[in-house]
Amino acid sequence: EAMSKTIIVSNRLPVKVTEEDGQYKVATSEGGLATGLGSVYQSGDNVWLGWPGVEVAGDDKQNEVTQKLAEVSLRPVFLTADEISGYYEGFSNEILWPIFHYYASTYANYKLADWECYQHVNRKFADAVIAIAEPGDTIWIHDYQLLLLPGLVRATRPDISIGFFLHIPFPSFEMFRLIPWRSELIEGILGADLIGFHTFDDASHFISAATRLLPVNSSSNIITVDDRPVVVESFPMGIDDEKYGALTRDPEVVSEINYLRETFKDKRVFLSIDRLDYSKGILQRLQAFELLLDTHPEYIGRIVLHMIVVPSRDTVPQYMELKQNVDRKVGDINARYRTLDWSPVHYFYRPFPINTLSALYHVADICLVTPMRDGMNLVSKEYIASRTQETGVLVLSEMAGASKELIDAVIVNPSNIASMAEAMQTALTMSLNEQKRRMRLMRQVVSKFNIKHWVKLFMERMREVKQMQQSMR
Ligand code: G6P
Repeated sequence: EAMSKTIIVSNRLPVKVTEEDGQYKVATSEGGLATGLGSVYQSGDNVWLGWPGVEVAGDDKQNEVTQKLAEVSLRPVFLTADEISGYYEGFSNEILWPIFHYYASTYANYKLADWECYQHVNRKFADAVIAIAEPGDTIWIHDYQLLLLPGLVRATRPDISIGFFLHIPFPSFEMFRLIPWRSELIEGILGADLIGFHTFDDASHFISAATRLLPVNSSSNIITVDDRPVVVESFPMGIDDEKYGALTRDPEVVSEINYLRETFKDKRVFLSIDRLDYSKGILQRLQAFELLLDTHPEYIGRIVLHMIVVPSRDTVPQYMELKQNVDRKVGDINARYRTLDWSPVHYFYRPFPINTLSALYHVADICLVTPMRDGMNLVSKEYIASRTQETGVLVLSEMAGASKELIDAVIVNPSNIASMAEAMQTALTMSLNEQKRRMRLMRQVVSKFNIKHWVKLFMERMREVKQMQQSMR
């Protein structure tokens, strides 16, 4: 029997492709998925298929990029400017993203042309998969940009093994039903044999949407589609905890740690790190921090919010608007409370290298992870993994998937500004013993359910599902 391979598919390839004076460069990414699946796509004949993240026009340029990527087992799906606008910015990020994160009326913008473009690009991805897929191969498809892909691949390759994982929340049916093309989306996902979500709630929301919209039966976590059993399960994603632990001992990081300690001296440090996104609750967090300063003037000059916001999707209107609101809010708070030699909010709107993030995680007394909605949130786990000294407090939103696992965090409802300010106060006054008790428990969870464990579990489950289907024939 010929060696079978695994094909990973995601909208974005796990690299950063840049162009400088007509020369293309490929830089590896530190992303969680890239790290986790590195051992998979870089071995044997396995490949990872996806969009290189930049517009590459013309055959010559595309060939050059294709060659560069092939060296690292990656295969590009090129998108035109129109496809980026309709499929990525439009359908994925102006319709699916807001609905799946419970931002319905204010943010979703249903355009028929975007839906058509989404179908077209999903077909383009399907063609790329079908061109290289052979019987016995396994395909693992990722995230909301490719909801139709499992169904499209299944239609031409009925016997292939397909897994699908959604990295963002799956909303309750009352939310999901608003989408004009809801049934088509469910049909697309059901092309997979195994469908994974971060949490049990996401999985049950999916099962309820599927059984209400389509003539399919479900029994516990199995949906039967034309006699084909499809397994729906939760697989909470983890991180490479050992990497984050080791980083804190790297000489370069150690010198950054020392520099930060010197800079912050007698101040208590709150840290937050997010992509610029309305789902992250950045404004609400600022409001709570402001309320804390307002109600506890004794903290003036003694606490700092170190807030890193990484630019993201800045061509989508809602994101540009949020940027302005965050700028204004930070300016307002700093103008109101600053002294000659102290500012309450250190706001950075740019990405930082992993060494700097590691040093920040290691020195921050408190990490604020307070999204309005988040599929999992890996920042919370990176903070825990970087706390090798076993102190520190995580303030975590109950709306993040991670709150189902990190139950020893200070859990908050991000809509309740007063209780968030109280949680900040709780964190500031928590005894070292209590910090250690909680941190040790959370470190066990983060280390046990790490990214290797996640990949292994999903791949094993795929094989089991295939065996189950074959034994039913
Ligand atoms: C979330 C999504 C990913 C996406 C990432 C960055 O984590 O689940 O699919 O890749 O955000 O967003 P971007 O639009 O830049 O790919």
